[in-house]
Amino acid sequence: MKHRMNSHFSLTDAQICRFREEGYIALDRITSDEEVERVRGIFDGLFANSAGRERGHHFDLAGLDEEGRPPVLPQILNPVEFAPELAEIEFRGAALAIARQLLGPEAEPWFEHAILKPPGYGAPTPWHQDEAHRSDGGVDYEQVSVWMPLQEATVENGCMQFIPKSHCGSVLTHRSLGDDPRMMALECVGEFERAQAVPCPLAPGGATVHHARTLHHAGANTTDIPRRAYILAFRGKMTPNPAFHGFRWNSEKSTAAQARQTAWKNRGGVAGRTARRARALLAQARQKVSRFLRR
Ligand code: NI
Repeated sequence: MKHRMNSHFSLTDAQICRFREEGYIALDRITSDEEVERVRGIFDGLFANSAGRERGHHFDLAGLDEEGRPPVLPQILNPVEFAPELAEIEFRGAALAIARQLLGPEAEPWFEHAILKPPGYGAPTPWHQDEAHRSDGGVDYEQVSVWMPLQEATVENGCMQFIPKSHCGSVLTHRSLGDDPRMMALECVGEFERAQAVPCPLAPGGATVHHARTLHHAGANTTDIPRRAYILAFRGKMTPNPAFHGFRWNSEKSTAAQARQTAWKNRGGVAGRTARRARALLAQARQKVSRFLRR
């Protein structure tokens, strides 16, 4: 059964105004308790089964990602690839509607991720601006992220914390966590006032929305329940920016997940790459033929 996409979700003028001024907003309700529970079950399965690890989509954000060591901040990139039922959830439609209200009608889904902060030892997410993760040079665009916890989010289990109005400044200097290029996470080492941080605790079914330039972090999980969150990122209209070539701190990175991704792409050697390329071309040709026949 297909679930109805909640594409009519609407922010109030006051919420839009607050987002523009502060760089983030917190929403009491973006989807139903039932959906939160369902997504939580899906996520727990994906994390338990190491979904995406082999291809470098599942890694430790704040550790060295070594085999046989429990990750302190596991993350799955684009979990919908491993659980297609996530494509139909109402949260997705509501988040897209929010992104279009904030970035304009051209806003489109960009990427998504699942984060787990394990109980008791889940590591803090360092202070950063999402924009500092960009490595796609040559273009400019605005980006917003919709962050939905899959249980209560509190200061004690690592709810989101924002620096108000930080989206009005520039991208500050970042580096790999602990200045170790083997770490996936970035930490901001530029000047900003940490004491201004505003925590955003949420009940299940709520969400925060933040601009890609807004400084944010989340504390460690000191409780005895896992803290899971689903984050959908959206990209606004793209404009050319030939002067932007990506950030130094990203080109320096050399993580275990990157190595797994490269090995995955090269699996089977030349024969494997050729077979996958042939399959992709065949699929493209089939699509062209079926489009032609539908005319
Ligand atoms: Ni972030």
